[in-house]
Amino acid sequence: MSRFTLCGTVIHAPVCGEIEILENVLIVVSDTGVISSALEQGCERYIVAKQAAIDAGSFIELEEGQYLLPGMVDLHVHAPQWPQAGNALHLPLYDWLQKNTFPLEAKYADLDFAKQVYNSLVDVLLANGTTTALYFATIHLEATKLLADICLAKGQRALVGKVAMDNIDECPDYYRDASVQSGLDDTRALIEYIRSMSGNELETVLPVVTPRFIPSCTDEMLTGLGEIVQEYDCHVQTHCSESDWEHAYVLNRHGTRDTDSLDKFKLLTSKTVLAHSCFINEQDMAIIKERKSGVAHCPLSNAYFADAVFPARKALDLELDVGLGTDISAGATPSLLQNCSMAVTASRYLEGGVDSSVKQSDRGVANSRINYKEAFWMATTGGGRALGLNIGLIKKGYAFDAIVIDTSVRDSNLMIWGELDNVEDILQKIIYNSDRKNILSVWVQGRLVKGG
Ligand code: GUN
Ligand code: FE
Repeated sequence: MSRFTLCGTVIHAPVCGEIEILENVLIVVSDTGVISSALEQGCERYIVAKQAAIDAGSFIELEEGQYLLPGMVDLHVHAPQWPQAGNALHLPLYDWLQKNTFPLEAKYADLDFAKQVYNSLVDVLLANGTTTALYFATIHLEATKLLADICLAKGQRALVGKVAMDNIDECPDYYRDASVQSGLDDTRALIEYIRSMSGNELETVLPVVTPRFIPSCTDEMLTGLGEIVQEYDCHVQTHCSESDWEHAYVLNRHGTRDTDSLDKFKLLTSKTVLAHSCFINEQDMAIIKERKSGVAHCPLSNAYFADAVFPARKALDLELDVGLGTDISAGATPSLLQNCSMAVTASRYLEGGVDSSVKQSDRGVANSRINYKEAFWMATTGGGRALGLNIGLIKKGYAFDAIVIDTSVRDSNLMIWGELDNVEDILQKIIYNSDRKNILSVWVQGRLVKGG
């Protein structure tokens, strides 16, 4: 049985660097929210399928100026940091964590506060077209369960992790797992809770083992988390080689680079997403590729806290599974489309260089630029690949996680000139100039979660 059938122009990116445009394609969405067929005009079943949907009253037709895109996959969100989005961006990473972020995250012992913030964030992300979010919560089991509940209730696909952090030297007394054992117990409890939530039979909400980053965790904690990952075969997320300070800390403590340390603790798997990774080199990229792990590139956040640009061009050329992350609140905007444009901009700074007093030939790193097609691939297909989920494409067998962009909304910054802009130009303009006003409808797993 089908739930509905939608007809319109699809824009998506099956191949990195290429855009596929399917005009007037018929998308049949099954009862379980999976795309059961994508029929091109002229194919045999097209007319029959369209008529059947019209007869059943389940036919949706996009209007002129509207485009169906895969939903955005945000690979790195700190849900508890939402109240400080757009604030406290003046400090270096270490000071920002200690002075602003840990005190804020500690407040999630209060479930009422957690409920208000998490409800607000999930609504805003959905309104911005983020159909999937990979969330860091806090150290608190109950508030983290609440985040999972809210995502399930509002219909956002979400991967949710209780943050593990127990290192007395790096974490304050007021915000730290009480012991290795309690951190591991709570991680296990969250996995079991999410896996048995009623209404989550399609597993749109998934648990994630979440060591904050190596500096926050003792080796005992990292060892225990690696064992849990093996036992439960679940996703992993952490920060990897983000800043000079963090990268040097790991080299100093373990004598190895972040990727090698994580690998030693069995935390580098095909279900691992490494946030940032600005300081990774070719050796790191080789092991990330070998383990089939993914990377969450967070270009806006990196301008503030990494003091370096992730080598996106190299990573894409090596065919790593790279997606994009907002990194709320180190990145201020909840919009992944804005991070698409930022990813292109950052790559141009890396290639062109930034200091005009250095002569041009020495200023930048040659062959570093990426383009809007590659950024869009990262925000959709790349994110899906990094998570190992069938999302990010409008394709048979994939979940119907999709957004409708309306380019004709009044009072928006998006201007299309019919005689000048082809569909690729329109996508480029969507990336650079659209905002949440242009996002007309959002579906996750075939369920309408915004618009009509
Ligand atoms: N490293 C450890 N924790 C954090 C965090 O919350 N944000 C960022 N950007 N980096 C981190
Ligand atoms: Fe982060």
